[in-house]
Amino acid sequence: MQIIFDESQTRLNLMRAFAGESQSRQRYYQAALIAQQQKLVSIERVFRFTAEQEERHAMVFWKFLKDSSGGDIDFTAGFPAGVFEDIQQLLDSSAAEEEKEYSIVYPDFARIAADEGFTDIASKFRMIAEIENTHNMRFKYYGDLLRNGKLFRDDNVEQTWMCLNCGHIHKGSEPPNECPVCRAAQGYFIREYEAAFTSSEM
Ligand SMILES: [Fe+2]
Ligand SMILES: [Fe+2]
Repeated sequence: MQIIFDESQTRLNLMRAFAGESQSRQRYYQAALIAQQQKLVSIERVFRFTAEQEERHAMVFWKFLKDSSGGDIDFTAGFPAGVFEDIQQLLDSSAAEEEKEYSIVYPDFARIAADEGFTDIASKFRMIAEIENTHNMRFKYYGDLLRNGKLFRDDNVEQTWMCLNCGHIHKGSEPPNECPVCRAAQGYFIREYEAAFTSSEM
């Protein structure tokens, strides 16, 4: 049986989730700017890409609050204060946040929503939790590359790198210091398989 929305815990959790997603989006945009200043273009793109997805999550939760339109929703909640300038710390703290959302926060919200009879909302919490896990893995992947000095270095001497500025392909264990085509700095290079829309199966 479904309880009255305005008396539900789910209503508060939706507002918590909306606030959390909105803040994640803002934090990742800020992290993208810091990466940009440090000329780490792939990391900048990772943060922007993820920030846009967080924006969509915020909208999904926001729309469920339509029935409470016009009023205020009061709640207490904790939010991460990950104010760092260091890219390693930004990647690591972002991965930790995502892990918590994926493994604790959203599964809890989903369970409560299901108990209160809001099956559609419960299912959205579960699906978005799965997405947060992909964010977690994405931040961990780049965090590990950076930590291990592998962002611009690979054990494979035949590794294929792509310049994100012009698309130039370079083979070797490291990308060039400067793109020979467009003169973009090394920070523009990523492994080709990390780039979007580069499937050779087409
Ligand atoms: Fe999200
Ligand atoms: Fe996320």
